[in-house]
Amino acid sequence: PETGPLAIIVLGASGDLAKKKTFPALFNLYRQGFLQSDEVAIFGYARTKLSDDELRDRIRGYLSHGKDNTEDLTKFLQLIKYVSGAYDAEEGFRALDKAIAEHEASKLSPGESPRRLFYLALPPSVYPSVCKMIKFYCTPKADLGGWMRVVVEKPFGKDLASAEELSSQIGALFDEPQIYRIDHYLGKELVQNLLVLRFANRFFLPLWNRDHIDNVQIVFREDFGTEGRGGYFDQYGIIRDIIQNHLLQVFCLLAMEKPVSIKPEHIRDEKVKVLQSVLPIKDEDVVLGQYDGYTEDPTVPDNSNTPTFASVILRIHNERWEGVPFILKAGKALNSRKADVRIQFKEVPGDIFKCQKQGRNEFVIRLQPSEAMYMKLTVKQPGLEMSTVQSELDLSYRQRYQGAVIPEAYERLILDTIRGDQQHFVRRDELKEAWEIFTPVLHRIDGGELKCVKYKPGSRGPTEADELLQRAGYVQTHGY
Ligand code: BG6
Repeated sequence: PETGPLAIIVLGASGDLAKKKTFPALFNLYRQGFLQSDEVAIFGYARTKLSDDELRDRIRGYLSHGKDNTEDLTKFLQLIKYVSGAYDAEEGFRALDKAIAEHEASKLSPGESPRRLFYLALPPSVYPSVCKMIKFYCTPKADLGGWMRVVVEKPFGKDLASAEELSSQIGALFDEPQIYRIDHYLGKELVQNLLVLRFANRFFLPLWNRDHIDNVQIVFREDFGTEGRGGYFDQYGIIRDIIQNHLLQVFCLLAMEKPVSIKPEHIRDEKVKVLQSVLPIKDEDVVLGQYDGYTEDPTVPDNSNTPTFASVILRIHNERWEGVPFILKAGKALNSRKADVRIQFKEVPGDIFKCQKQGRNEFVIRLQPSEAMYMKLTVKQPGLEMSTVQSELDLSYRQRYQGAVIPEAYERLILDTIRGDQQHFVRRDELKEAWEIFTPVLHRIDGGELKCVKYKPGSRGPTEADELLQRAGYVQTHGY
């Protein structure tokens, strides 16, 4: 592994993402022993004028106070230094560079090189200027070697054209191997498990195609609305917030062909190919919803047509998947908080038990909460009669891996950025393809041609979505 002083620079250090996700993830890594070398320093940068201690106090409350944590917490907070400045002002970034260089100078041993990780916990509107600033003023001196990497997070644009513009601006400053586009769903345990499941199990290999699978659902539900972020959300809507990124990444891992190896580029090549095979989305394959009360948020316009719910069928034009609908569904203010994948198999031909209509085979992967996988299968009802019942082969993580800690998505992903592993990050061409798929629909929503139906907060969402699902061929089974 590379050695040398490591500076983790959190830009937007006093903002929400930094407080709620970035610093807690760094702290958890620290507690697991990853950032404990004295070669590590963390720098916060933001516009607000604060002392080091004031920043530490601001984030302290967001870091988990488990038992025996106080000592770790105090030590971790001591790693953090703060520099303030504007996002487009040379002086601020020169000061930042100076602070980082001081740390490096005191730690650099012969043969070592500095490592600088810039985490942009900022709105994308400032990405171009911040990227310019860090490139010009905070690049490690060439003679020292080492690396600099930049971590960015969605929204990467609002449609194909704006995303491409942003990509070009950042791409003009940094090479692709330096850019880490986070989609935090790629850091989730069960999402990371999808490739293993598919390609390391004989069970699934022959069945994973149009001959056996009838339909696939990828569903995200939240049981709360846009509380506090209505104004932001209204500019994006649920397709840009969840479907075009998080659910589409899950889709790729489920639908892509087997990569040549597990090298990041091989995996990402296959993701791009399956995205390129998605057919244009038809209007009749889309249901949009908006929950009652959404526009009561004062920051949301009364006539907003922004969907807080969407169900969209993707159809793949290739040998494996022709004719198999992939239903991507996401909604806020629904009746539960859950994300899962549901793969429904076709009926058994020549059904001598006459049981298939009541229950097809289904393979369910619950991404969260309570990670689990289960296979619904038909068995004989125990007892004297020859009747059948649907039951489950169940792998529930909590029971099976008692005591195992499932890392938070951000922890894993930040560690990957330090290690230089881009497997779980979105490549530029992947992002472009993702926007290609959804841009026409998004433009029709923005133009008011595709309208939302209303649904009650706390409900299952619009009934139109259930009808869409039935039209797609899904057969509801009972239980589980
Ligand atoms: C974010 C969205 O990317 O993901 C939020 O912007 C959403 O709207 C969140 O709440 C959901 O993430 P998770 O990990 O809780 O499923």
